Amino acid sequence: MDLRTIEWKNGQIKIVDQTKLPGKLEYLYIRDLKTLWHAIKELKVRGAPALGAAAGLGVYLGVKDSKAKTFARFYGELDKVIRYLGSSRPTAKNLFWGLERMGSAAIKNQEKAITEIKKILFDEAQKIIEEDRSACRKIGIYGAKLINKFDTIMTVCNAGILATIDYGTALGVIYRAGEEGKKVKVFACETRPLLQGARLTVWELKRKGVDVTLNCDNMAAILMAQGKIDKVIAGADRIAVNGDTANKIGTYSLAVLAHHHKIPFYIAAPSSTFDLSIKSGKGIVIEQRNSCEVTDLFYKRKMSHKAVKVFNPAFDVTPHNLITAIITEKGVIRAPFSKNIKRVIKSCKG
Ligand code: MRU
Repeated sequence: MDLRTIEWKNGQIKIVDQTKLPGKLEYLYIRDLKTLWHAIKELKVRGAPALGAAAGLGVYLGVKDSKAKTFARFYGELDKVIRYLGSSRPTAKNLFWGLERMGSAAIKNQEKAITEIKKILFDEAQKIIEEDRSACRKIGIYGAKLINKFDTIMTVCNAGILATIDYGTALGVIYRAGEEGKKVKVFACETRPLLQGARLTVWELKRKGVDVTLNCDNMAAILMAQGKIDKVIAGADRIAVNGDTANKIGTYSLAVLAHHHKIPFYIAAPSSTFDLSIKSGKGIVIEQRNSCEVTDLFYKRKMSHKAVKVFNPAFDVTPHNLITAIITEKGVIRAPFSKNIKRVIKSCKG
């Protein structure tokens, strides 16, 4: 049963509606930009690499019916689409990387007829999708080399099929290890407040037949203290030049705990997640989300005082010194990150 998180189908963007999981595997067909913007904002489609694909397909969707006769007009419309989609969520680099890539593809071909440019944009979006499929599989190959036959791995959020096109980054490493005959077990942190671990990671690991146990986020320390975790692997939303990594809220706590218990802590991410324009995690914009996600969303009744102030950042930044290595499609990057990230990410490999 092949699962595709996002694709172009019959003139529309087809996504798995992740807010319906694990109850129902339901697809949403998106015909207009506003629906796509809301799908991104509400995490119907989510995960950094999947957002890169949404950017590619979204830009094409936004300009495919343009009536512009000149490139200047066409580009004006395209730029508006890019800015609109870029206003949906701020943290995942892949979203902006995808948008910029679509903008550059148009500019590079501005001498061509508008109909031809539209076709080029469609092809560019398909390339983003195919590159993600290939990158995730390479991340899996590099990452699986770090995994021993009977390892138990802790992960957070969902960095799997549902966060990419069809394979995953952190979970891609686990899938590849399984394909190589390793008997890996997984502890999935539930990932409050939106429960991507409980709802999505458990769903897809079960579907793939991986041995998975669900734990509340605040149970990670006891699991590590009891010697039950051999490695932690998480995904990433944006990685600075010095290796500081933004990922789902709670990732930083896991890195601190892993460091204390001398457990290797890995980040798995494609090169499209790296932001070589920022020196450190201080430059990463962290999305703040609605308080009702903490107080109401998955409860039958409000679970706190009705006037409580709520702190709800969607991501945190793990400092590079807590990261053992970053697994990419171009190879495994280790400290000193400031030197090695630039060297590996800028190379043509991968
Ligand atoms: O808010 P989300 O669900 O979009 O957050 C996703 C994550 O934090 C993932 O770990 C990250 O995007 C990497 S996905 C391969």
